[in-house]
Parts: sequence; structure tokens; C-alpha cells
Amino acid sequence: MKSCNQMITDLDTPTLLVDIDRLKKNINKMTSFAKDNNVHLRPHIKTHKSIHIAKMQLDMGATGITVAKIGEAEVMVEAGINDILIAFPIANKTKISRVKKLINRGVSLKLAVDQIEQLRILQQAFANDSFELEVWIKVNSGLNRCGVEPGKDVLELAKEISMSKNVTLGGIFTHAGHSYASKSFEEIHNIGVYEGKAIAESAADCENIGIPVPIRSVGSTPTYQIAGKVEGVNEVRPGNAAFFDAIQVGLGVAKEEECALTLLASVVGVYKESRLVLDTGSKSLALDKGAHGNDTVKGFGKIVGHPDITLERLSEEHGVAIFPTRTELKLNDRVQIIPNHACTVANLFDHYVVHKNGRVMTTWPVDARGQVT
Ligand SMILES: Cc1ncc(COP(=O)(O)O)c(C=O)c1O
Repeated sequence: MKSCNQMITDLDTPTLLVDIDRLKKNINKMTSFAKDNNVHLRPHIKTHKSIHIAKMQLDMGATGITVAKIGEAEVMVEAGINDILIAFPIANKTKISRVKKLINRGVSLKLAVDQIEQLRILQQAFANDSFELEVWIKVNSGLNRCGVEPGKDVLELAKEISMSKNVTLGGIFTHAGHSYASKSFEEIHNIGVYEGKAIAESAADCENIGIPVPIRSVGSTPTYQIAGKVEGVNEVRPGNAAFFDAIQVGLGVAKEEECALTLLASVVGVYKESRLVLDTGSKSLALDKGAHGNDTVKGFGKIVGHPDITLERLSEEHGVAIFPTRTELKLNDRVQIIPNHACTVANLFDHYVVHKNGRVMTTWPVDARGQVT
């Protein structure tokens, strides 16, 4: 625990900062959307990987959480969180035995299914168990990563699940990650509407032949407030919206003042030819300019209060920035950087330093960082 009299400007760098007021506001925005639109909220915790923040989300109204990795689920279960969707297709023996351990502990765990072959493996693995495995069909709404196609293919898989012993269908879900490549809000809107319809219509098809689909879940930060309004959708799963980042600002999804996660950096030197160096290289900022074809960011992060400076290149420990003609920044000055991609940067740190208006309040571990399996 840090001293409450400490200001963030006194901290060593690089340090990962969370602005508590912005974080609460961002979570409140998600929970209010869910309440106002009568949908469940199941935030993806891959963004923050923090037990503390996941519990804040649950306390503020989330019904469960989403994870990508069993390791992330295991960390959250240890902390008493017990309603979890693992949104990644699982089919191998080692992973299935870890899943069983979690279910045996009473966790309400939902696994993603998107292929008959994978379903067969799960059916076999759970055939002789005394409990049922809940699966959610993963649907491809245009990202073209995992997932079955909406409509007929969902129906076929749902039929197979409904005939299974010990495997039940709890829901269908999709993630319109391709919204990150949008060039306009209109494009984001259209992707969001399609995302919602792909789920709502596929669920209706299943129910028309007597297969209930209790949960119809959508969500990416750019689209969840659009897809979540489509009739028939009853759950949203935003992740990044807890922190936001420079990619969301570039897309017009968030304002700079909403970004809750920043990296505190120091100026290492100011050099000729409009060049200055910060102590934030790829070890702390990640060489991430956005997945899924996003090209809205310039450089490797937004330096707060210095829009004319571009963080042009990163080596492991050095961040090389270019300023136009002159800068008031000098050796040892501190700056805050809004990362391009908050989720990958959080994964690089052991702790967040939590602050309110620049005053240090506490530290929170990034509990599930580095959970690659
Ligand atoms: C399946 C799934 N659901 C939800 C999310 C959350 O998306 P975002 O971080 O854009 O809110 C992701 C992110 O990768 C995801 O893969």
C-alpha cells in the first residue's frame, strides 16, 4: 500500500496508473446501459485482469464475467467469482480436466463451442460425469476468427447439443471485433446492428424448433451499445470500456478524458532534430497499434497534454518521440501516456497504482496477467 500523501509525480517510472474516478464512471456507463436496456452485463476481464476491478463490476451490477483463458478463470475463481464464460473454444484433455476441477468447485462455468468435432470431444469427456457442462455457441458475426455462421449452422450445432448427454445449451454469443477497423461511426453502427441480429435471429431459429436459448450475448466496446439494443439480445460483454485507450479515442468511441489507464513516464533526454526519449519502450507500452485492421492511432500512445509530440518508435526500454520545433519538456519531466491498447499494456505490469486527481490511493495487483493457458 502506498502512502496516501504521495502524488503520482513522486513515483518512479514507468508506472501504470488507474484514475479511480474515470474507472468508476466507465463501469457505471456499462452498468447503466445494461439496466436501461434490460440486458445482462458480463464484462470481459481480459482488459484489466484484476480481481478488484472485476468485483467492482459485479458489485455495480454485472451478472458474471467473461474470460479468454482458463488461467484467468482460475484466478477469478480463487477470489470467489463463480459465474464465468470462457469465450475461447476448448478441446484438449489438459484443459478439459482444469475445466472439470472448476465445475466441481461449484463454479457456473460456460464453455464456447463452435465445431461439431469439438462438441464431440466435450460430449465424450463429460458423458460419465454427475454434472452437466453448459456450453454457449460462438457465432461469427463478421470478425472471421472463430465461430459458426449465423442461422443454419447455429441451428445444426444447437440440435447436436440438444441431443447430448451431460452437455446443455446455455446461450449463443458473438464478438464483432472487426468494428475496430471501421472508418466511420456509421460503419460501427451497421456492424453493431448486424452483430445483434445475427444473434437474435439465430436464437429465434433455435427456439422455433423447440431448442431454448436462454442467453443471447453480444459485445465489443465499439458496438455493445448498438448490438445490445437489438430486440432479442439479452446480454452485453464489453471489455475495454472499463479503461478505454487511444484506439477507442481514434475510433471516436471514447474521449481522451474518459481514459482511465495511463502510463507514467519520465523524459530521459531531449536531443537534436526534435527528438526526445522517454523511459517507456516495448517492455512497458507494447508494440501494439491495434488488432483487426485498426489504423486510427498515430505512434505508440498519446502523450497527455502534448498532442504535437508523436511517440514514433519503441525499442525495449526507450520510447523515441518527435516534437515539431521546440518543446518545454526537459530531462526528468514526467508525462502520462494513454496506451494504444489498454489490455496488452495491463498484461505487462504486476500492479496498478490507483490515484484520485493525482493523489496515490492504493495499489492493485494485475492478478491474472500472463495467464497464457
Ligand atoms: C469474445 C469476446 N467478447 C468480448 C470482448 C470484449 O471486447 P472489447 O474489449 O472490444 O469490449 C472480446 C475482446 O476481445 C472478446 O474476444
